[in-house]
Amino acid sequence: MKILILPDKTAAVSSAARTLADKVRDQPTAILGLATGETMIPLYRAILEISVTEFLSFSKISTFNLDEYVGLPFDHSASFRTYMQNWLFQHADFNPELTHFLDGDAKDLILETSRYEKLIADVGGIDLQLLGIGENGHIGFNEPSSSLASRTRIKTLTKTTLEANKIHFKDIKKMPLYSLTMGVGTILDSRQCVLLATGSKKASAVAQMIEGPVTATCPASALQFHPNTLVILDDQAARDLKMRDYYEYVHPGINNVT
Ligand code: F6R
Repeated sequence: MKILILPDKTAAVSSAARTLADKVRDQPTAILGLATGETMIPLYRAILEISVTEFLSFSKISTFNLDEYVGLPFDHSASFRTYMQNWLFQHADFNPELTHFLDGDAKDLILETSRYEKLIADVGGIDLQLLGIGENGHIGFNEPSSSLASRTRIKTLTKTTLEANKIHFKDIKKMPLYSLTMGVGTILDSRQCVLLATGSKKASAVAQMIEGPVTATCPASALQFHPNTLVILDDQAARDLKMRDYYEYVHPGINNVT
């Protein structure tokens, strides 16, 4: 794992946006795995800003979103498709035919998860998978106890996750209890993973992911097996790391990056 610790959230977001922008510029037909959530909003804003100043085109980029709630129509205000439209796709030249989602409202959810796995395999796999991390150590919606070899499937959401995401639902009683998510194994198949975590709420999960044992109790810890994972943190998210001095020594000067 390459661990970059930036002085604050703005710097961490800029660093992640730079990584993503470089990928799009260097490989205009790249297959990107995308995440949703609060952490990604400033990152998508930053990548859009870069795309304007550096004339970046996304027209040949393919995307696969990590997860989706079960039972929400695509156009529901809290669906991840709506999120992606609002925060990224509608502001740039993405080709809608190349942006892929799990359909949480599919009649046959098992079939839907195998369709997605096959689609990812058919395009040759994901080049760069963008990730956030849940306070409970989830990646995608792979909640604690997820098999570290899991593939795209239905996953029951934990109370922690429901609590963290309830603001997006007007009626909490109608919040989906299940999700479709790429599996941990699916994520590990990506050629590169870039995980962005900001804020003190993520500090404990981040420390378990990087320095804890590899365990299904913290699904993100499976990234220790991935040969090309970049973790970008702000000062707060890095707070509980025991070997912080070492990470800062390995990547000197990174604290000056803006
Ligand atoms: C959502 C996803 C999740 C989030 C995680 C953090 O597509 O992949 O794993 O990245 O729940 O969410 P925020 O950023 O809202 O704290």
